[in-house]
Amino acid sequence: MNFLWLALLATALADNANNNNNNNNNNNNAQQTQQSAAAASTSVSSSRVYSDEYGVLQFQNFGFEGYFYNVKSIDSSSNDSCTCEINTAKPVSFEGAISPLNNEVSVHIRGPINLQKFGYYVADDYTYGQTNGSWSRLAYYNSDDLTAENVTFLGNVGENVTCLGKALDYVDSDGVSAASKSTVLSNVTLHSNEELVIMSNVSCGDSGFSKDCGVYRDGIPAYHGYYGTTKMFLFQFRAPEEDSVSEDTASYNMPAIWLLNAHIPRTAQYPTNANCSCWSSGCGEFDIFEILNTTEALHFYSTIHDYQGTGDIQTGLANEGYLERTPDAVMMGGVVFGSDGTATVFLSNSTSFDETISNSNLNSWISKAEESESEHTMTLSSVTNTVNGAVSLENNWWTLGLLAFMCVL
Ligand SMILES: *[C@@H]1O[C@H](CO)[C@@H](O)[C@H](O)[C@H]1NC(C)=O
Ligand SMILES: *[C@@H]1O[C@H](CO)[C@@H](O)[C@H](O)[C@H]1NC(C)=O
Ligand SMILES: *[C@@H]1O[C@H](CO)[C@@H](O)[C@H](O)[C@H]1NC(C)=O
Ligand SMILES: *[C@@H]1O[C@H](CO)[C@@H](O)[C@H](O)[C@H]1NC(C)=O
Ligand SMILES: *[C@@H]1O[C@H](CO)[C@@H](O)[C@H](O)[C@H]1NC(C)=O
Ligand SMILES: *[C@@H]1O[C@H](CO)[C@@H](O)[C@H](O)[C@H]1NC(C)=O
Ligand SMILES: *[C@@H]1O[C@H](CO)[C@@H](O)[C@H](O)[C@H]1NC(C)=O
Ligand SMILES: *[C@@H]1O[C@H](CO)[C@@H](O)[C@H](O)[C@H]1NC(C)=O
Ligand SMILES: *[C@@H]1O[C@H](CO)[C@@H](O)[C@H](O)[C@H]1NC(C)=O
Repeated sequence: MNFLWLALLATALADNANNNNNNNNNNNNAQQTQQSAAAASTSVSSSRVYSDEYGVLQFQNFGFEGYFYNVKSIDSSSNDSCTCEINTAKPVSFEGAISPLNNEVSVHIRGPINLQKFGYYVADDYTYGQTNGSWSRLAYYNSDDLTAENVTFLGNVGENVTCLGKALDYVDSDGVSAASKSTVLSNVTLHSNEELVIMSNVSCGDSGFSKDCGVYRDGIPAYHGYYGTTKMFLFQFRAPEEDSVSEDTASYNMPAIWLLNAHIPRTAQYPTNANCSCWSSGCGEFDIFEILNTTEALHFYSTIHDYQGTGDIQTGLANEGYLERTPDAVMMGGVVFGSDGTATVFLSNSTSFDETISNSNLNSWISKAEESESEHTMTLSSVTNTVNGAVSLENNWWTLGLLAFMCVL
């Protein structure tokens, strides 16, 4: 029961911190920005003093009314002039279930991982536990026969400029070297700290603040992410213990699979200037399976990085439970985002990657995982972050004052 109490306390504290999030944005130093966009944060949440293994991790009440700032301009012409601006005059508002992760997202994989299958699915709506209806597959990768439908394999393997880091580019079939065109990933094992980005095969139009993909870095192959409120991502993978690179390597033996707002990798995933990405203003990251440190090398945690009830985007909203990483066995599972505001993360050896997945099947995979190792649910607080929050508060006082004045009269 400990964790419940602490979660409530943390939520209450976070509510207080919430209004301050804009101030925090600009305080993010480069190191923090680099670490957290990597889903590689090793920071420890002070509220997480209790955790246990579960079969299913769930967030409820996910999605809120808020906003973030998108990048307005990027100057990448030289290391000396390298800079970016965010458009604080035109905040991007969002609201409703799963927001802001209802935006298009990119998929990120960090070794040691051997990705064997990937599927992206959508449905019109989904309520956790529903057994009627089904999901349609809109993107698919299978390393057995090198099937790749509606996927583009990318990585941060392009030109390096100070404020932005390395540019997004196509990766070769080895998953790590740059390629000149879209190439299907082979059945390879990424090592520690090697990362892969997966986007759809739908090309972006021109770069521009009001264009379909917003502003993106010059010269990159720019693709749309995967859209939808009601969406599901499934993975089949091995996450073997690292056996090839030195223990000094960054993120040594810390495999992870996560989602970012697709704007982030198209501008800069690891900027040294936080204004080169919408990440620090809260456009969204969802860590599906993430090893946070080598002490807990077999514990996959799941974390949301946005401002729904916290002002500390770096730490984010971490589900207190974890799923088990089995380095010697193939793992299958993923995340289901429901129109009811649930995000359900599970591992199940029953997972299939068929073109259509019925909710009766999905529900049986999840409920079996839950029966064997129970479920840990974290309910997020209800939050409204309006752009002019402070102004409307002032207006309220002004209105009250006027009313009081009229009463006196
Ligand atoms: C910026 O500096 C890096 C590292 O010194 C170098 O590799 C890169 O070519 C430079 N980029 C530009 C655009 O000058
Ligand atoms: C599932 O059943 C519910 C309750 O009968 C109904 O409201 C909903 O429309 C059904 N959904 C689908 C996708 O068939
Ligand atoms: C893919 O590679 C893994 C690890 O090397 C291996 O276990 C698996 O059998 C390979 N799959 C295929 C289809 O070759
Ligand atoms: C994108 O993928 C779909 C599904 O495999 C395919 O039908 C379509 O031709 C691809 N489009 C491009 C531009 O490669
Ligand atoms: C990019 O270059 C900078 C120096 O300009 C260096 O500090 C940084 O480590 C490089 N980044 C990568 C990913 O190589
Ligand atoms: C590919 O994925 C994108 C995801 O955003 C979707 O809009 C598009 O319809 C998909 N293409 C196919 C052929 O399913
Ligand atoms: C980021 O943008 C904000 C708002 O325009 C500005 O105050 C801040 O100085 C910028 N930070 C950097 C590192 O350029
Ligand atoms: C490792 O990560 C877990 C989960 O965040 C945390 O509880 C633990 O304190 C961390 N251990 C170390 C040594 O940082
Ligand atoms: C899946 O099967 C493997 C191999 O039998 C086993 O080690 C692992 O615990 C199973 N995973 C789940 C989530 O049941």
